[in-house]
Formats: sequence, structure tokens, C-alpha cells
Amino acid sequence: MPGKRPPTGRENPFRISGTVGGPYFTDREDEITRIVRALGEPGAKLLVAGARRTGKTSTLERAVEAVTAAGGAACMADLSTASTPVDMANRILTAALRVVKRGWATALVDRLALLKMSLTMKPDPVSGGMAVSLDMSVRDADAKTQEASLAQVLDLLDELAGKRKMTLGLVLDEFQEIARFGEHAEWRLRGVLQRHQHLSYVVAGSHLSLIDAMQGKGRAFYKLFERCPFGPIAPDHMAAWIDARMRAVGLAPQDAGARCVAMAGARTRDIVRLARKGVDRAEDTPRIDGTAVDAAFREILEEDADSTQRWWSGLTVAQQNVLRAVAGASTGLTARVTQQQYGLRASTTTTVQALVAEGVLQKTSHGSGYMFDDPFVRGWVVLHALPDLGIVEPATFIASPTSEYGALGSAPPKRLPLDRST
Ligand SMILES: Nc1ncnc2c1ncn2[C@@H]1O[C@H](COP(=O)(O)OP(=O)(O)OP(=O)(O)O)[C@@H](O)[C@H]1O
Ligand SMILES: [Mg+2]
Repeated sequence: MPGKRPPTGRENPFRISGTVGGPYFTDREDEITRIVRALGEPGAKLLVAGARRTGKTSTLERAVEAVTAAGGAACMADLSTASTPVDMANRILTAALRVVKRGWATALVDRLALLKMSLTMKPDPVSGGMAVSLDMSVRDADAKTQEASLAQVLDLLDELAGKRKMTLGLVLDEFQEIARFGEHAEWRLRGVLQRHQHLSYVVAGSHLSLIDAMQGKGRAFYKLFERCPFGPIAPDHMAAWIDARMRAVGLAPQDAGARCVAMAGARTRDIVRLARKGVDRAEDTPRIDGTAVDAAFREILEEDADSTQRWWSGLTVAQQNVLRAVAGASTGLTARVTQQQYGLRASTTTTVQALVAEGVLQKTSHGSGYMFDDPFVRGWVVLHALPDLGIVEPATFIASPTSEYGALGSAPPKRLPLDRST
């Protein structure tokens, strides 16, 4: 058996852990310009709404960086993990105090003390200044008191910015989490946002159906925000960027970028993950082509196989059948032939809706069908669950030209070349 070739020590030009910047980041000039403008405009309220893994947080970070580089003040608080409104207040306090002058911490503490809010002050290892947070006891207070604490923190930041005649740009990432605390919290936040003249707000979120509901008529955020759509990066740009990054580390791509986009779909992280795996696998070979990208795609499925298998085992039979049909059928879920082949029942619509609500499926961009949220899960279903029905196809199988991947504004591939090594 030939020995494994030694790695070249080639640095991978793609990153997928956390957010990205510098050479690992591409495109998004328009979105950054718009966010930067909003962050510098007192009273602005911008909503950046985009699907998961499209690069929102990285883009927001680059915008905050640009504001700071130009001498302005902006910061970002990640609200995704907050369990209470007080947690949100603390996230915002920490983020804000990292970007303003040191005197703010003392002024904040004095003002919050006047409001009889108990605080904890600790040195902040990131900024070297002081970190101020609301006491744990406030977390146990009733919902109204907690919401009031969040409102008071924002009010105070507005007041302090006003006293210093400056605009503080606040980015609230995954802001839709406020909905967890009920509509009352949403209305309270609306009131706060509306009266602030020295803060600007850029809120971002990926839970699109929830965000749409929160902005619906009769709901708190109705017509409050200007919307900055956050779609996929243009496929041609993405493909060319991937090829250029590969070339920069001495690899000769042969349509590798285009193949990554066709296989991984619309989400930037999925595409970059595939490209990264392709480079890892290339080791000391000088070229990377479509076949190598397909092999990388399969390797990712297998890497995720344990967790995908566990998730699959927890699904109902009806859900499994729907997912097999979405992955394998060349006609829609309501077509008789599909229903027979995949054992779909009358309750299919409810099953599909539940899978959409859980983020496993989504509507296709042309709206007539459904597609997997995650291209690698889809590949796993093709490879490992379609054979239950006697359907054996490679992981790269695309059943229908209207189904999904590669269908980003251009004509989707009808059927990708079969790779029988799977
Ligand atoms: N503009 C970009 N250029 C290159 N790669 C990007 C870009 N945006 C995102 N990525 C890739 O996607 C990954 C995730 O980015 P990021 O966390 O910013 O996305 P997100 O939309 O905030 O994701 P989530 O929905 O999980 O919060 C990055 O680590 C990187 O691999
Ligand atoms: Mg994010």
C-alpha cells in the first residue's frame, strides 16, 4: 500500500471557525457601507436580516471596525445566548464600555446607583478597563423589572452619549431573541429605541420567519426598522474568489470554486467549508478539480455522520420519508408518484411545516418546493437513507433541476456528473 504523502505545510486560505476578516473575508461592500452609514447616524434603526451561515456577524464586525477606524464609536453585542433581558443588558454594557472612554464606567455606575440598581464592577481582561454588570439578583426579578433594567441601560447609554455630544452605534446581533421574553418585552424595546437620539441601532437576525412576524402589522417592530437585505454572495464572485485563494497557496484550481458553489448552495459558510476541506485533502498535489471537490463533499458528510445519524434516529418515520423524498424525488411532494415511492401520507404538509419550523427544510427560492437547509445533511440522506428504498445514488446526486443546490440565480445543474466511487 503506498504510504501517505507528507503534507506540504500549505496554509489553508479558508477559515470556518467563528467570524472572518482580512484576506479570509470577501465581498459585502454594499452591506458594509449601509451598516457603517447607519451606525454613524443618530437615531438610525437598521435591520440586517439574512439566513443562517451567510456571514452576517462577520460583516457586522467589519462595519464596526470601519466605524472605529474612522474615529467613531460603535460596538456589537451578541444576544444569541441571553436567557433573560438582564443578560442582554449585560452584553450591551460590556460591549459599550469596551469602546468608550474610561470615564463612562464611573458615570454609568453613579447613574445606575441613583436608580437603585445593584452592580458588579470587575476589571475587563479584554479592554483593560472596567466591566460593569447588573447583579445576579436582578436576573431573578420579575419580567417587568428585568425589562426595565434593559431599558434603563439603553437610556443611560443614550444620555451619556448625548452629554458627550457623540453618536454611539449599537449592533445587536441575533436580536430576535427578545421575542423569547414575550410581546411585552418587544413593545418596551420599541419605545426605548424610538426615543433615543444619540444611539443608532443596527439589529441583525437569522430567524427570518420570526423576524417577519415581529415586524408584522400590530406587532411591536412594525415599520420601525429600515431593512438591509442580506442575501447570498453572487455565485460567480464566490467561485472566482475561491479559485484565487487557492492559487495564492500554490494550488491550480480547475473549476473548483464553481463546483464548491454548485455543491454547497447559497450559504457562505457551507461553500467555504467545502473549499477548505478541498485544500486540506489536496496535500501536496498541485491541482484541485471538480472530482476533488466532490471527494471533499463526501468527506464532510462522513465527518458529520455520527451526529447526523443520531439526529436521523430521533425523527419520526413520516419525517424521514419526507426528507428522503426532498432529497431524492424529481417531482414535488404532492405528486402521486412521489407519494407512492416515498410512502408519504396525508399528513405530509404538517410534517413539512414542522421540518421548516425546525430549520431542517426551507422553501426553494422559486417557492414551489422544499430544500434542505444544510447541503451536507442532504448528501448524507442521499448516500445513507435513500438506499432504504433501494435508491442508490452518489452523494452529489441532484434529482431535479428545480430542486436546489447550484440554483443561485443561474440555471441549476440538471444532474451533476455521477461519481461512482461513492
Ligand atoms: N464575506 C465572507 N467571505 C468569506 N467567508 C465568509 C464570509 N462571510 C462568512 N464567511 C464564512 O462563513 C462563516 C460564518 O460566518 P458568520 O459567523 O459571520 O456568519 P453568520 O451569518 O453570522 O452565521 P450564523 O447564522 O451562524 O450566526 C465564516 O467563518 C466564514 O467561513
Ligand atoms: Mg452570526
